[in-house]
Amino acid sequence: MHAIQRSAVVAPVAREKKALVTISSLEKRYRSRDRADVHALCDINLAIEDGSFVTIVGPSGCGKSTLLRILAGILARSSGSVRMGQTEIDGPSRQVGVVFQSPVLLPWRTVVDNVMVPSEVQRLDLGAARKRARELLALVGLADFEDRYPGELSGGMQQRVGICRALVHQPSVLLMDEPFGALDAMTRETMNVELLRIWREQNITIILVTHSIPEAIFLADRVVVMTPRPGRVAEVVDVHLPRPRTLAMFNTPDFGRYVTTIRRHFGSVGTE
Ligand SMILES: Nc1ncnc2c1ncn2[C@@H]1O[C@H](COP(=O)(O)OP(=O)(O)O)[C@@H](O)[C@H]1O
Ligand SMILES: [Mg+2]
Repeated sequence: MHAIQRSAVVAPVAREKKALVTISSLEKRYRSRDRADVHALCDINLAIEDGSFVTIVGPSGCGKSTLLRILAGILARSSGSVRMGQTEIDGPSRQVGVVFQSPVLLPWRTVVDNVMVPSEVQRLDLGAARKRARELLALVGLADFEDRYPGELSGGMQQRVGICRALVHQPSVLLMDEPFGALDAMTRETMNVELLRIWREQNITIILVTHSIPEAIFLADRVVVMTPRPGRVAEVVDVHLPRPRTLAMFNTPDFGRYVTTIRRHFGSVGTE
């Protein structure tokens, strides 16, 4: 059995692995002319290792989406720094793919043409992109649905298309904001297992936001636990459950101990 090891609030960078994403003294305040400012993120410091799977868990309104949108380069920070490798993030980057809770597919385009959208926007080689789009769809079990329209797919299948679309331009980081929040519990578990397979096969870094504590533990090498607003990092928990992870692990005493450790931060409030 594993003792639960907790790392310092500022996650130290392991010597043999390099940090791909480095967040230092990050602050975000939403300013408004007619309302009081909202202090959404407060002094966030994190180093995210290349190739790791990091989940961010916290109650609704604690700034998870704010943090992810800043990492995606689609929202400006108020102060502090966010670097991808050595480069400061100051706009959308080709190194990043993003998956939101709802995949928002274009209903008039086929599945494969939806996956192609970022390649068209970024003016990549469309022949190569189409080949990769087909490979990704096969990877997620949708080879037979390439030429269907989104309206013909279930919610889980649509979200798989969203994941392929985020991966088609070969980003090094996949950012996911509650990607399975709209799915039923069983589909969600299947998607979790599938996502771990994609992560392994694509050799990418994944940063996934969720308000489900078990989902955060099941997926991650490292769980970042956030406080209610203003969002701060309350704790970073290293998850030492073996890989490959299986759904049976949800019921093990080790798993339960991680849940207890993280739930302590939320008391009776919970994260739902
Ligand atoms: N555009 C905005 N303008 C003002 N306040 C915002 C805006 N977006 C989010 N907020 C506020 O910032 C806080 C964090 O929001 P968010 O990042 O969406 O939290 P989470 O994703 O953890 O639920 C919330 O209090 C929310 O109301
Ligand atoms: Mg959110």
